[in-house]
Amino acid sequence: MDRYAVIGNPIAHSKSPWIHAAFARQTGQALAYEALLGPLDGFTATVHAFRAAGGRGMNVTVPFKLEAYALADRHTPRAEAAGAVNTLVFERSGILGDNTDGAGLVRDLSANLGCTLAGRRILLLGAGGATRGVLLPLLGSRPAALTIANRTVGKARTLAERFTVHAAGTGLDACGFAELAGRRFDLVINATAASLAGELPPLPPGLYAEGALAYDMMYGHGDTRFMQAARADGAAHVADGLGMLVEQAAESFALWRGIRPDSAPVLAALRRQLD
Ligand code: ATR
Repeated sequence: MDRYAVIGNPIAHSKSPWIHAAFARQTGQALAYEALLGPLDGFTATVHAFRAAGGRGMNVTVPFKLEAYALADRHTPRAEAAGAVNTLVFERSGILGDNTDGAGLVRDLSANLGCTLAGRRILLLGAGGATRGVLLPLLGSRPAALTIANRTVGKARTLAERFTVHAAGTGLDACGFAELAGRRFDLVINATAASLAGELPPLPPGLYAEGALAYDMMYGHGDTRFMQAARADGAAHVADGLGMLVEQAAESFALWRGIRPDSAPVLAALRRQLD
């Protein structure tokens, strides 16, 4: 049977094995998908051992996405732009590195949440790996404007400069949180790690335009703190990142197996598990 795995550290709570098992059942694909704890100093060795044992591909999660980029022999354009890899495909000629996070986010926004991106004003909070991973697919959706805001302004500016070449008709700019005062957005995406520390990015009030969506890449039981704060600040709609998790998995599955699973029932079942 074809073998796949997700590698991370920690990994015990990963939902990827459950998601991919559901996709495999649904599409009638015979495959095994396991969770591998990668030693912090032994990522590459673990990947090579899994490949040598017959593995066909892997998902890569925290903290190994940069090492996975370095390990891959070639990259898809979206992985190249992100500088990070969350999906490895073991080919006869070498290892292909892809990044399905951004496509997963865009698909969750457009297909699951009915959020049109073209022509809209998007605010992306954070300038770390999570932001880099989603910038190319977001710009590809042709928003009118995309603002990257970060605590450390220089990092946001560097990212904006780097992605200008991909911005086409989108007004791409960068700033600190305080400079957002007086501006309005149709979509605000939290890609900071603030919630991991139980914190919120210090945002000025009044960011949400009429009908706006606040999207947190994090998820948990019930609304995240970012979602609660956004609602209080007037966001008409709020969503967490569970849909992005399922959609990036569907994108990886499609890359490996050449067949796209129906993510909706899997997302609904996962949501029921969390509630
Ligand atoms: P990730 O891969 O999850 O993006 P990262 O590369 O370490 O992780 O980036 C974390 C992001 O969350 C950064 O944008 C960071 O801001 P700085 O660049 O200023 O460090 C942001 N972040 C982390 N804690 C935060 C907090 N308490 N408030 C606001 N932003 C925070």
